[in-house]
Amino acid sequence: MSFDHGNHVWGFSTAGRIFFGWGAVSVLRDVAREFGPRVFVCTDQNMVKAGVCETVVAQLAEGKAEVKVFDGGQPEVDRQTIERAAAMAQAYAPDVVVGLGGGSNMDLSKAVAILVKYPGPLSAYYGENNIPGAITPVVAVPTTAGTGSEVSPVAVVADPERAIKVGIASRLLIPKWAIVDAALTVSCPASVTAHSGMDALAHAIESFCARTRPDCSPHAIFVGKNPMSDFFATKATTAIAKYLPTAVAQPNDRTAREEMAMASLLAGMAFSAAGTAAVHALQYPVGEATHTPHGLGNAVLLPTVMRNIMPSRIEEMAFIARNLDASLKTKLDADAAGQAPGLVEALGAKVGIPKNLRALGVKKEQLPKLAQMASTVRRLLDNSPVEFSESDLLRILQEAF
Ligand SMILES: NC(=O)c1ccc[n+]([C@@H]2O[C@H](COP(=O)([O-])OP(=O)(O)OC[C@H]3O[C@@H](n4cnc5c(N)ncnc54)[C@H](O)[C@@H]3O)[C@@H](O)[C@H]2O)c1
Ligand SMILES: [Fe+2]
Repeated sequence: MSFDHGNHVWGFSTAGRIFFGWGAVSVLRDVAREFGPRVFVCTDQNMVKAGVCETVVAQLAEGKAEVKVFDGGQPEVDRQTIERAAAMAQAYAPDVVVGLGGGSNMDLSKAVAILVKYPGPLSAYYGENNIPGAITPVVAVPTTAGTGSEVSPVAVVADPERAIKVGIASRLLIPKWAIVDAALTVSCPASVTAHSGMDALAHAIESFCARTRPDCSPHAIFVGKNPMSDFFATKATTAIAKYLPTAVAQPNDRTAREEMAMASLLAGMAFSAAGTAAVHALQYPVGEATHTPHGLGNAVLLPTVMRNIMPSRIEEMAFIARNLDASLKTKLDADAAGQAPGLVEALGAKVGIPKNLRALGVKKEQLPKLAQMASTVRRLLDNSPVEFSESDLLRILQEAF
């Protein structure tokens, strides 16, 4: 394999330490010793009901931690929820914040860790590199596979004062510890497994197909496609193609859960360097307009965006296609590549992803406004291998509709 890497310097960063394995949650016993005794946990009611929160608190307490739990986390976490959790955390003055749950609770923990250290409003930190210095250490414990937030420099926030989701991006947000225990994902409902798994696939494919960015400063958050992000993205793509349908259909299949947890982690490492692109830029306004999960919107948009970047990423598309259909191994790149979008669509259909944006509740008359809002997400669109104007984005939305 030789992909378009250009001739340039790139950088790579990830969580300070990654613990992975069935039962890795027991590592939480060492949190107090590493970071200090006062632990603030950000989680939600589903984690309480699944008994996961109780396990986590017990492990922390075994390590002599004092624990305070905020269990009011919400899917697609919003600014008000963050403010409520932050008020509780500020009063408690924790040494460390633990994010327990899917991307929503992990992002909540990152935002809380900013506001424990620095004054509000949270909007002061929106955008890239706007956090003034080190934040309270974050330990991320994902229960979906997933967003990759456990290793990413990003927190995504739904702010009712903004028409689209906003990102806070800074390497200061990268968790100090990522504890990836696939056993915690077993209680995920099938739809959550499917949506978050397709989000991981979108991370892998968008990083793998991202632009190379020889113009980047070492301070840039996303530095473009590079050999290391390609390595992680290809590993993740192969595993998701093979194991996502099993993880959805047989929730107790340990191999499928472990492979998906690893794939999500690797895809997170890939996009944390290379960046996500047009799929994610378009999902932000679509998600806000329809109140549908992040991974679901990405899954619907992904094949159409793939068709639109095809000419500049033939080798990568051929690789993706062959992972989804082994019979393409004997075909030339140019012939295999064209199959990739349809094969991704078929994988989505297998795990219950609807065909188009209409099925998500998007109205035809909303498309121009959605395209206009997506066109403002330059932070992500700059990673696309093909430059998309507002009218290109509208055409993509019409095709996906
Ligand atoms: N920070 C990043 O780098 C990054 C990357 C991608 C997405 N995101 C954000 O992450 C969010 C989506 O995260 P997600 O897809 O993990 O879903 P989520 O965190 O929103 O969770 C979805 C639902 O599943 C439930 N759930 C999660 N794990 C469970 C389990 N093990 N058992 C039972 N129920 C469980 C949650 O309680 C919630 O109701 C979005 O806000 C998205 O914008 C962030
Ligand atoms: Fe995502």
